[in-house]
Amino acid sequence: MTNPFIFNGYEGAELFFDRENELDTLMKCVSSKINVTLIAQRRMGKTGLILRLIDELKISRSKVTPIYVDIFATRDLAELNKCIANAIVKTFPEGTSVGKKLFGVLRGLRPMIGIDPLSGGPQVQLSYQNQTEKEHTLEGLLQFLDQQSNPVLLAIDEFQQIREYPETNVEAMLRTYIQRLHNVCFIFCGSKKHMMTDIFSNPQRPFFSSTQFIGLDAITEEKYAQHIRRMFMEGEKHIDDEAVKYVLDWTKRHTYYTQRLCHDIYDVKTKTVDVDIVRNCCDNLLRLNEPYFLQYKQLLTDGQWNYMIALAKEEEVTQPYANAFLKKHNIGATAVARRQLQTLIDKDLVFEETTKERSYYRVADLFMLRWLAREY
Ligand SMILES: Nc1ncnc2c1ncn2[C@@H]1O[C@H](COP(=O)(O)OP(=O)(O)OP(=O)(O)O)[C@@H](O)[C@H]1O
Ligand SMILES: [Mg+2]
Repeated sequence: MTNPFIFNGYEGAELFFDRENELDTLMKCVSSKINVTLIAQRRMGKTGLILRLIDELKISRSKVTPIYVDIFATRDLAELNKCIANAIVKTFPEGTSVGKKLFGVLRGLRPMIGIDPLSGGPQVQLSYQNQTEKEHTLEGLLQFLDQQSNPVLLAIDEFQQIREYPETNVEAMLRTYIQRLHNVCFIFCGSKKHMMTDIFSNPQRPFFSSTQFIGLDAITEEKYAQHIRRMFMEGEKHIDDEAVKYVLDWTKRHTYYTQRLCHDIYDVKTKTVDVDIVRNCCDNLLRLNEPYFLQYKQLLTDGQWNYMIALAKEEEVTQPYANAFLKKHNIGATAVARRQLQTLIDKDLVFEETTKERSYYRVADLFMLRWLAREY
């Protein structure tokens, strides 16, 4: 039997676990054309959920045409256009009647169609455009989607990337164009919580209050434990309760890390799994990742590295400038700590999480957290 714990990409509804409520809400939003903002910590399962939604639209034979773009690698408006245009070209191939229209539209907008040297398929190439033309292209692409007979879902992953563009008006521009559409609904997805909430819930920003927020928390302990036990049982293996508890504590039920560890445990060639086997798998995972963690040691100053270790040792820190914390870990003055923490957040090595009850800081990569706490 193949390993039922995936930790890379999406491999169909059977291997995608839980998230029924979120999926249900997303399906309802799509059918009522409500735009959604999906925000959650890195590796919690946002992209997986979007791909699950796209799959569900297919399974339920929905009329909606889904289009997914990941704009993480785009650096400016021209690249955003290219990214969206490429996704549209893939969705409506040249041979189809919609595809023919699309190519007509694209020619009018001046981007040319070339051949992708890797896949041999069509690829949009943008000829030089001035700023107005670039804006016109984005509007043209969205209008094209709006003119389709079937409704369109455009899911934009890593949306916060638009904040990195040299053009500062992309947010306002997008909002203006989107307001004119009737047949396209959007999912804006991202993990940089501050940026995403600033885009969508700051009264001074163009997207203010225009979307429904959906967040993804860790799957509950009870559900995840049940799921793990069942997957092992179906593979004619057994995992004991102590081992399951260890897995869920060690990975804090953070989806990617839990899936990854379970994957490795499932691959161990024994029929029964106890906590010693789990510990062994944890050690192996940390050893495997060690060179990658050590790279960061080179990239950070001693002070920043020391701050990472302090955070890792405490697991979660609610008062990162409190005297007791600074003293215990030899961090230095509050002003120094403030700078160090900010740098670590900017580099995505640490995140701040705010729940109803409290707000805390944590080393973002859980394996790195476990490794730092163990090594230092
Ligand atoms: N509900 C789920 N059931 C099973 N596996 C899942 C689930 N959600 C996520 N995963 C697994 O965890 C991995 C990480 O999830 P995903 O890439 O969706 O997270 P993300 O929130 O988009 O992360 P990032 O912020 O880094 O883009 C996925 O590749 C997938 O294999
Ligand atoms: Mg993602």
